[in-house]
Amino acid sequence: MDTFDAIKSRRSIKSFQNHEMSKDEINKLMEYAILSPTSYNIQNWRFVTITKQDLKDKLCVLSYGQRQVAEASLVIVLCADLKSWEKNPERYWKNIPEEPRNFLIKGIKQAYTGNSKLEHDQAIRSCGIAAQTIMLAAQSMGYDSCPMEGFDYGKVGEFIGLPPDHIVTMMVVVGKKAKEPAPRGGQLPLSELVFEDHF
Ligand SMILES: Cc1cc2nc3c(=O)[nH]c(=O)nc-3n(C[C@H](O)[C@H](O)[C@H](O)COP(=O)(O)O)c2cc1C
Repeated sequence: MDTFDAIKSRRSIKSFQNHEMSKDEINKLMEYAILSPTSYNIQNWRFVTITKQDLKDKLCVLSYGQRQVAEASLVIVLCADLKSWEKNPERYWKNIPEEPRNFLIKGIKQAYTGNSKLEHDQAIRSCGIAAQTIMLAAQSMGYDSCPMEGFDYGKVGEFIGLPPDHIVTMMVVVGKKAKEPAPRGGQLPLSELVFEDHF
C-alpha cells in the first residue's frame, strides 16, 4: 500500500472481527516497528505483544471495558526502558567505525546523565513515533488499529511485569475492523495549525 493511502485510511477502530494474526505477521509488524527513529539510536522502546484471549480480556477490564482491547487480534503495550542509554550503548552503533562511535557514546552520556526529564521525554517521543509506524505498517498489511491511553497505567504495568526502570507509554491494538468507522471528527484547517517561519 502506498504511504499516502496508509495515512489516509488509518482510523482508530473500536470494533474488530474475530481473527487470529499469525506469528509471522506479528513478527513482520514488529520488524517494521523497530525501524522507527530514536534519539541517538538508543532504541528505548520495548513492546509487549499479547494475543491470548484470557489476557486480552483482563487487559480490557484494565482499559475501563474498552471492547477493542478484547476484540483485537493483537494488543501491543508500548513501554520504554528509561535507562537504555546507559546499557552497553556501543551496541547502538556497532556498525560504524570506533572513532565516531566513541564520539556518539560520549554525547549520549553527556545528554542523559542526571537528566530524568530527558529520559522520560524521549520515552514518550520514541514510543509515539513507533506507534505511528506500527499503525501504518498494520494498514499496509491489511490490518486496522487503535492507539490507546485509556487504561490504568499502574495496573497494566503490574500485569505485564514491568521492570523497575521502565515505563508504560501507551497501547496499540491491531486487528481486522468489524465495521467502518464514523467519518473523521473534523480536522482543523491548515491555516490554524501551520505557521510559516514563526507564530
Ligand atoms: C495517544 C492517544 C491515545 C488514545 N487513546 C484512545 C483510547 O484509549 N480509546 C479510544 O477509543 N481511542 C483512543 N485514541 C484515538 C483517538 O480518539 C483518535 O485518534 C482521534 O479521535 C482521531 O480519530 P482517528 O484516529 O480515527 O483519525 C487515542 C489516540 C491517541 C493518539
